Amino acid sequence: MPYIVGEACVNCKYTDCVDVCPVSCFYEGENMLVIHPDECIDCSACEPECPATAIYADHDTPEGQDHWAEINAVFSGTKEPGDADTTGWPQQLIDGIKAADFAVWPNITETKDALPDADAKAKEEGKATQMSPKGFSG
Ligand code: SF4
Ligand code: F3S
Repeated sequence: MPYIVGEACVNCKYTDCVDVCPVSCFYEGENMLVIHPDECIDCSACEPECPATAIYADHDTPEGQDHWAEINAVFSGTKEPGDADTTGWPQQLIDGIKAADFAVWPNITETKDALPDADAKAKEEGKATQMSPKGFSG
């Protein structure tokens, strides 16, 4: 029963969640993080830390966010892209996992500065189409 990072993280990436995770199971994309569902021990420590309330338990999925469990699984490297159920995914993510340069996102273990527009973006809804399929590359 892992925790999941949902749409509200997109273009915020506050990373407060990273510091409290006892098993370092967050993975970093260009403009959001995901949780590795097999590494998450369901401790719930990260959920209240997120300023954007982007994290939720997979048994408590907000309406319309069912597909984010699969997005977390694929970009954290838990599930092969070819095995993914992409129902409900925005097109750029479907294209991204089929691309020749697709790569699983790198692990992130320390909190860092949020993205520049994080506070404004935290108030925005419907950000799925803004999510980058690329891993963070420094
Ligand atoms: Fe890490 Fe616990 Fe959050 Fe899972 S629920 S991602 S183990 S802090
Ligand atoms: Fe994203 Fe919230 Fe963590 S915005 S990076 S899930 S603290």
